[in-house]
Amino acid sequence: MKNKISTESRKKNTTHTLRSKKLHGEVITILTAYDYPTALALDRAEIDAILVGDSLGMVVLGYQTTLPVTMEEMLHHCRAVARGAEYALLIGDMPFMSYQASVEDAVRNAGRFLQKAGMDAVKLEGGKERCDAIRLIVEAGIPVMGHLGLTPQSVHQLGGFRAQGKTVDSAIQLIEDSIRLQEAGCFSLVLESIPDRLAGLISKKLEIPTIGIGAGANCDGQILVTHDLLGLYDQFSPKFSKRYKNFLDEMEGAFSAFKQDVNEKTFPTVNHGFRMADDVWDALIENIDS
Ligand code: KIV
Repeated sequence: MKNKISTESRKKNTTHTLRSKKLHGEVITILTAYDYPTALALDRAEIDAILVGDSLGMVVLGYQTTLPVTMEEMLHHCRAVARGAEYALLIGDMPFMSYQASVEDAVRNAGRFLQKAGMDAVKLEGGKERCDAIRLIVEAGIPVMGHLGLTPQSVHQLGGFRAQGKTVDSAIQLIEDSIRLQEAGCFSLVLESIPDRLAGLISKKLEIPTIGIGAGANCDGQILVTHDLLGLYDQFSPKFSKRYKNFLDEMEGAFSAFKQDVNEKTFPTVNHGFRMADDVWDALIENIDS
């Protein structure tokens, strides 16, 4: 029996795990994390992969968009997540301007996610204009996840956070881009805020797994921003998200309860403190000026 458990012991997920899940018709689950405790909990829940998304700019750092997020901020949070997760595939999101200006920047910055921050792969946004960078990053031995549809780093070009691929032309563009990204070497593709029919069509056409967010049930997997799922971010609630908890309210309740306890002197009690033996106390009193 002991042997059986050890041969069936849990293995670290890789990009191959995700590909194999698609091949076997098993759905893939991915959530975002930005810190150690969340990574621990996601790993314990056996979530397949963790994305350290640049959404951290909005849901953790309080920016209006993801644009101000820097490489240093991303690497800092990636390290915390890597310390908490043992089994999930870890994907670091390349922030705005870390890969757009030149392919050299793209390869160097992608490498930092693996070399300096414990990630297994990187994600970047965009279609055919990103294929050269993706090819070179993959040639450097770094797995790349693509991201099409609503790409938040292009929010100003897109005219806001709005669904994409709703016309014939833009849908054809997305299909072509998804094929190009697969050919460039992406191991997986996030499809954000596009019609579910279109996402289903792209998922059927591609060999690599598609991961949907606001792209319906016909993708090969689903991803959500964990802070939306937990109700930890109330500035904006995307239509496609599902809130499983209301942690912001829970936190406020706990903080108010602490304040009340302290005000009413019901916290701390003797059980929360440390005792000093009577003889030590008496000697202390004798030795200090009264
Ligand atoms: O930054 C992020 O969290 C993302 C997901 C929404 C896919 O890119």
